[in-house]
Amino acid sequence: MCGVVGYVGYRKAAPILINGLKRLEYRGYDSAGLVALDKDNQPRRYRGVGRVKNLEKQIQGEDLVATCGISHTRWATHGKPTEGNAHPHADISNKFFVVHNGIIENHAKLRAQLEADGVTFSSETDTEVIVQLVGRNFKGSLEGAVEEVLKVIEGTFGIAVVSSEDPGKIVAARRGSPVVLGIGRDEMFIASDVGALVPYTDQVVYLEDNDLAVMTATDYQVLSFDHVPIKRKTSMIDWTVEEGERGDYPHFMLKEIYEQAETVRNAMRGRVQLSEGVAVLGGLQSKIHQIQHLKKLIIVSCGTSYHAGMIGRHIFENLTEISVEVELASEFRYRRLRLDETVGVIAISQSGETIDTLAAIREARRKGALTIGLVNVVGSTIARETECGVYCHAGPEIGVASTKIFVSQLVILNLMALLIGRYQSVSLSEGINIIKCLQELPDQISGILKNAPRLEELARKYEKFPNCLFIGRQIHHPVALEGALKLKEISYIHAEGYAAGEMKHGPISLIDENFPTLALVSGDASYEKMISNIQEIKARSGPVIIVTSKRTAEMDEFADDVFEVPSTHELLQPILSVVPLQLYSYYCARFRGCEIDKPRNLAKSVTVE
Ligand code: G6P
Repeated sequence: MCGVVGYVGYRKAAPILINGLKRLEYRGYDSAGLVALDKDNQPRRYRGVGRVKNLEKQIQGEDLVATCGISHTRWATHGKPTEGNAHPHADISNKFFVVHNGIIENHAKLRAQLEADGVTFSSETDTEVIVQLVGRNFKGSLEGAVEEVLKVIEGTFGIAVVSSEDPGKIVAARRGSPVVLGIGRDEMFIASDVGALVPYTDQVVYLEDNDLAVMTATDYQVLSFDHVPIKRKTSMIDWTVEEGERGDYPHFMLKEIYEQAETVRNAMRGRVQLSEGVAVLGGLQSKIHQIQHLKKLIIVSCGTSYHAGMIGRHIFENLTEISVEVELASEFRYRRLRLDETVGVIAISQSGETIDTLAAIREARRKGALTIGLVNVVGSTIARETECGVYCHAGPEIGVASTKIFVSQLVILNLMALLIGRYQSVSLSEGINIIKCLQELPDQISGILKNAPRLEELARKYEKFPNCLFIGRQIHHPVALEGALKLKEISYIHAEGYAAGEMKHGPISLIDENFPTLALVSGDASYEKMISNIQEIKARSGPVIIVTSKRTAEMDEFADDVFEVPSTHELLQPILSVVPLQLYSYYCARFRGCEIDKPRNLAKSVTVE
C-alpha cells in the first residue's frame, strides 16, 4: 500500500526521499511523487506514474538544495494512477502539501462543501480534501491547521504535511495507518515503515492512533489531536541495511526462499529445551496461566498468514486440548462474537499492520478475549496492541509474495502449541520428538533447495498452461491453498487450491490435457484417497505433478512428475512441502517474464480495508 517518507534536517532532502521510497517499493504502488521546500521556500513538486526510478529521472539535473520534504508511493484507491492523482497533493495556493496513506471516508461531503466555497480540485483523490482544508485553516501554525482538519476528517490516515508558510517543519498524524518517526542528530525522518529509515537511524518512535507529531531538524514533539503533549518511547530498529539488500540474488523472493533454513533456526533460537521437551516463549510468559486454561482459540489473519493459521488449527488440535477456529480477519471482525477471557485470539501477521487483522484484535479485546500476536515486524501496531505474543525474528521480507515468514509462522505455531500441550497431555517423549524434528528442518530445507534445478525444469514444462489446480488433504489442504496463492500472485497463472475430497464436487469438470494438477501426497491415512483422486485426474488426461515425502511405485506410475521432499513429523511436514511450491511459482513467474518482487496490483502490507 502507499508509502510515506519525509525528511527535515541539514542534508539535501531529495536523495533521502528517493532512497526511502525505493526501500518501500516492495509494499506495492503505481505512482510516486515528492515535494521539497527550497531555501527560499519555493515548493518544488515532482510526480509521475510508475516506478520510483521514473521520479528519480525527473529530478536528475534539477538543483534541489532543499533540506525539508515529503514523498509518497501511491497504491490507487480513489482515482486512477495518473500524475494528477499522485501525491503530494497541494492546496489551491500551492503552499501546503500532504502525503497520505489510508482512506478519507467522508471526502465526498467535504469536497462538496469546499467546492461550494469556490475551491477547485485538481485530483480525483480522497486525499486532496485534507490539504485544501489545511490551507483554509492556516493561521500561522501548521500543526494548528492540521489539528483543525483532524477534527473533521473521518476514516484512516497516516499523513505528513509541509508548508512554505511554516518552513522547516513536518507535521504528521496517524489514525489507522502506520507512522514512524526516525530520530537523528540535527535531522528527523518520518515513514510509513521502518524499512525506509534503516540506512539513516536506528532510533524510532512509533506513533499511536490519534497522535500528531511536529518535527523540525533538531526536535520533535508528539501531541494528542487536542494539543496535549504525549510521551512516546523511543525504540531501536533491529534490522540491518544488508538484510534489506538483494545481494547476488536476482530477486528478493529467491533470496528469501534461500534464507529459510536460517529463518527456521532464528524462529527456534533460545526457544526450546530439548531435555524437557518444552518450548520457552518469553512473550507468552506473563499470560501463561490464562493461556493454559483457554477453552477456545481463534486464529485470525489474511493472505499467506491465513494459510499459516489454517495449518495452525491442525497443530493446536493435535497438541492441545483447546478447540480451535481459524478465520479470515476481514470476516471475523463483522461476526456476532461471544468472546470472554476463556477465548484466546491469535493474530498472525507478517507486517503487524494489516488493517483487518488489527481491527479483529481490537474487536476481540473489546469483548474480553485474550489477544496474542504472532508478528514479524518488531514494534508494529499489532505487536503493540496484543496483550502477549511471539516475534518471528525473520528479518525483513521484501518480496510481496510471502515465503520465509510463512515458514517462520509455522515453526512458531508448533512451538506455541507445544508450550501449551506440555501443560496438557503431550508427553515428554512426544515433546522431545517434535523438538528433534524441528532441529532437523534447516538441513532438510537446504536439501530441497539443492534440488531447485528440478523445479526449474518442472516450471519450464508447465508454465505454458494458463491454469493450475493444487490439491491436498488434512494439513496439506492449506499448503495447496498457499501453493496456488504463490503461483497466481507472481506468475498470473490462474491457480486454485482445493481440498482433494472436493474434486468431484466441481473442479474435476475443468480437467483436461491442458489443465495440470499439483498434488500434495503424504503417507498418512489420506494416501489411498489421494491416489484415487490422482487416477481420476489421469482418467481425464490431466497432467499431474506430485510433491511427496513418501514416494511409491504407484506415484511414479500415475503421475507425470514426482518431486520428493524429506519426511518429518506430520505437523511439520508443511514446512518442507511448501518450499518446492514456492520455487516452482518463482520459476514459472521468471519464465513468464513477470515482475516477481512487485506483482501487479498487490501490496505487501494491506493497510486499507
Ligand atoms: C498481503 C501480502 C501477503 C500477506 C497478506 C497478509 O496480501 O501481499 O503476502 O500474506 O497481506 O499480511 P500480513 O502482514 O498480515 O501477514
